[in-house]
Amino acid sequence: MLKRTLYCGDLRTEHIDQVVVLSGWVNSYRDHGGLVFIDLRDREGLAQLVFNPEDDPAMHELARALRTEWVISARGKVRHRGEGLVNPRLATGEVEVVVEQLEVHNKALTPPFEIDGDAKVNEEHRLRYRYIDLRRPKMRNIIKVRDQATALVRQYHREHGFYEIETPILAKSTPEGARDFLVPSRLAAGSFYALPQSPQLFKQVLMISGMDRYFQIARCFRDEDARADRQVEFTQVDLEMSFAEMDDVMDVTEGCFAHVFKEILGIDIELPVPRMSYKDAVDNYGIDRPDTRFEMLLKDITDLAGASEFKVFQNAVQSHGSVKGLCATGGGKFSRSDIERGLTDFVAQFGAKGLAWFKVTKAEGTDQLDLTSSIAKFFSPPQRREIIQRFGATDSDLILLVAADIDTVNKALGALRCKLGTDLGLIKDDLYNFVWVVDFPLMEFNKDENRWDSLHHPFTAPLPEDIDKLDGDPSQVRSQAYDIVLNGNEVAGGSIRIHQPDIQAKIFSLLGISPEKAEERFGFFVKALKYGAPPHGGIAWGLDRLIMLLTGTDNIRDVIAFPKTQRGQCLLSNAPGTVDAAQLDELHLDIRETGPEK
Ligand code: AMO
Repeated sequence: MLKRTLYCGDLRTEHIDQVVVLSGWVNSYRDHGGLVFIDLRDREGLAQLVFNPEDDPAMHELARALRTEWVISARGKVRHRGEGLVNPRLATGEVEVVVEQLEVHNKALTPPFEIDGDAKVNEEHRLRYRYIDLRRPKMRNIIKVRDQATALVRQYHREHGFYEIETPILAKSTPEGARDFLVPSRLAAGSFYALPQSPQLFKQVLMISGMDRYFQIARCFRDEDARADRQVEFTQVDLEMSFAEMDDVMDVTEGCFAHVFKEILGIDIELPVPRMSYKDAVDNYGIDRPDTRFEMLLKDITDLAGASEFKVFQNAVQSHGSVKGLCATGGGKFSRSDIERGLTDFVAQFGAKGLAWFKVTKAEGTDQLDLTSSIAKFFSPPQRREIIQRFGATDSDLILLVAADIDTVNKALGALRCKLGTDLGLIKDDLYNFVWVVDFPLMEFNKDENRWDSLHHPFTAPLPEDIDKLDGDPSQVRSQAYDIVLNGNEVAGGSIRIHQPDIQAKIFSLLGISPEKAEERFGFFVKALKYGAPPHGGIAWGLDRLIMLLTGTDNIRDVIAFPKTQRGQCLLSNAPGTVDAAQLDELHLDIRETGPEK
């Protein structure tokens, strides 16, 4: 076999007059009757090969038979393409290889879609033929960025004294809140391993084991509905540090993010990353992962709405609801149907029963701003002025309001804010706005189940100054948790952990986890806490989400070589699949006849 000496994409003018061997896939061919031109493609890019019938008629004939995606190697001398023949769009566009020797390694069926063009290809088709899809330049680039980011993360953590330690994949369920993937045990009939939702308890045990600083590029499994930024199988950059406080974990984490952004995108992330309390995030942005690339903050006008004559608002306020809104800069250009259909339908998805609105206009012949809409008459002129002032509204703005319980109001307006930010072009390209969200409540009350739930997980430590409130009103207890958000995406989350067995037991009891249940589910961990646990804390980044942001894709499947569909299937290999009866027998399993899908 001809031995490759250079990647196609690395061919440059410095190689002129050298003899090189290139190997790859035929990207395209042009047969000009005389000369045959082949664009040969490999991982690094394209190079042009030339076959001249006068040099070697037999090889020229062979070259004429080549078709797209055939795999070949070619040996030849590099030369300049000549005046007027340079292709400035290609890094290799100044040179070409005059082929002296050709080896055809393999023919190929006609590919099911174009590799080179921009044609939009159905995603299922791409996933079924993933090996063809991954040959496309866009996908190749994403895989390359992912490799670079992973290498940078590894190097950074090693330099900061972290040990890379693997934790089990066949594990016991750890409570991260999602459904587990289970693996039946052959040796212990009726017992199951769970694939880890994260290495949470193992990394804490590593701190108790004295490892001091741990990190891992860890595969996690959660049997939950896949979304645009979620996969059932995904990757975390997971870390834990002993004798650490919040600032220590946050410093290491933001330092690593800054390093990755500098090396890959050449962007300087300003450190320290700003911090925002959970309360401010929810009050102003309606969500705990605020997109800080644009303003358009939510404002509360419950007091004004309650005092108005508008029945819908009065009723909402009387039933302890809230009225909040946002001022869409330049939204005055929206038509009535844009608002009453488009935007109202949009907020309805988040449970809002309606969307009230005002256009901000100048009263005729004056500079005085006023509100116009079918409900403006229910507000007195001073109330209207107060609303304009509260939103800081100006001429041609649109004020949009939702009345409901506070959670629905925030959810609906938080989503509407992001939609309008995009629709109104308020988000500048190439902005990478990081923000830490801190001071989360430790728990929230689950009305359906009538118990407290952890906002993060049960191992998150309360703020020391709030511990006393655990016995009174747990809703007032803040945690030592922190999430880092980039352009409205939660890219990492973590916390300082509870290292005192008595506080851990107290939290379990508040969460309705009985001592027996705690013993059964994570007895090993509760026991380990009693054998000398150092104060510790950590964080986990969603690596896939970070790569999405680094490569500008909004589809998580694009950043994973072999992803799963929304239904958790691998269309390439057809997993999950059935197994034969003998395998089930060994695992002591019987499959029930399934009825029609629910
Ligand atoms: P958490 O559950 O917040 O924390 O996960 C950490 C980060 O992982 C990413 N992530 C996901 N990415 C893709 N698909 C998913 N299904 C998915 N779920 C989560 C998010 C998230 O911020 N053990 C704790 C961390 C800790 O406390 O140290 C944990 O797993 O970017």
